[in-house]
Amino acid sequence: MNHRLAAPVGITATGQCFPPKVVTNDDLAQILDTNDEWIRSRTGIRERRWVEPGTGASQLGAPALQQALDARGLKASELDLLVVTTVTPDTLFPATACRIQERVGASNAFGFDLNAACSGFLFALTTAASMVAAGAARKAAVVGVDIMSTIINKEDRATAVLFGDGAGAVILEQVDPGYGILDFEHRIDGSGGEFLFMPAGGSLKPATAETVANKEHTIHQAGSEVFKNAVREMADNSRLLLDRNGLKGEDLALFVPHQANIRIMDAAAKRLELDPARMMVNIDRYANTTTATIPTALHQAREQGRLAKGDLVILSAFGAGFTWGSTLLRWAC
Ligand SMILES: CC(C)(COP(=O)(O)OP(=O)(O)OC[C@H]1O[C@@H](n2cnc3c(N)ncnc32)[C@H](O)[C@@H]1OP(=O)(O)O)[C@@H](O)C(=O)NCCC(=O)NCCS
Repeated sequence: MNHRLAAPVGITATGQCFPPKVVTNDDLAQILDTNDEWIRSRTGIRERRWVEPGTGASQLGAPALQQALDARGLKASELDLLVVTTVTPDTLFPATACRIQERVGASNAFGFDLNAACSGFLFALTTAASMVAAGAARKAAVVGVDIMSTIINKEDRATAVLFGDGAGAVILEQVDPGYGILDFEHRIDGSGGEFLFMPAGGSLKPATAETVANKEHTIHQAGSEVFKNAVREMADNSRLLLDRNGLKGEDLALFVPHQANIRIMDAAAKRLELDPARMMVNIDRYANTTTATIPTALHQAREQGRLAKGDLVILSAFGAGFTWGSTLLRWAC
């Protein structure tokens, strides 16, 4: 079954925000037993951005959203819906959506946070677009923002080198028939939960002096399990979208995978029989920014002139949960 929206809805503008501080692999080699060669060859990452301590997700999310609003010539007050996806909210509550709403002055919007880890942007896109298609909102925004530097264990070389901070935003509106989101396939599987998670800080294990001392408020990951599953699901899911829409890899103008590891991305692109030049890559400069990888990659693709109206695009992600999914779009602006 194709998953089609009730009406055509597409992305009509994009924005992004990264903190200015660049952390190179050599910088990390000063504090960890690692080196630039290992990180680049195993992950494709050269550098990442980290915020100064005390910076919350809303402080990157709001400028990213403002940039998208400006690009579309919209006032914040024209937004009806704001969906924010993050695993590093400013606070567990209130929602970061409320904080971003206040910062940009989206005085007529309702909104909420959505957590699907690295698949969050795709799930939020589908959620918000479905509401626009149904007429529950006319102009919606999705912001993917993560401040991963606040939840990595900076003494664990296996995870600390992988993540960065950033925010991306898109505006969603009804578009002409044949444009926008054409199809999607999303899944969750909780049996993968133990392979990538933060043990403490939720209701199951509230923060105590002991959980802090044990670094249980940081990312715990079984890297090779995540790697294996990510390659399989991102590739299978994207392939499925091509097949059921009668498309071939060569029909895609751009493949925008979640930027977790260049080897995962290359393996997925290969399964799609895609010209590697058609895959959007920014992991070298920004590392894995969790929910922000896809919207920032889209923004940069636009800036680089790699996306034009009518282009076919597949977005694909995999993350903690496990969660995964792909979305097929005909670019609408
Ligand atoms: C984390 C990841 C890069 C590790 O790569 P890998 O090829 O599987 O490496 P391994 O975990 O097998 O480790 C190989 C060796 O490198 C070492 N190593 C790990 N991190 C290192 C680092 N930063 N620098 C140097 N050596 C490192 C390990 O200790 C291990 O050493 P050993 O053989 O002496 O025990 C890879 O598993 C990965 O990318 N997984 C997916 C992660 C991900 O995408 N998460 C987010 C999903 S949304």
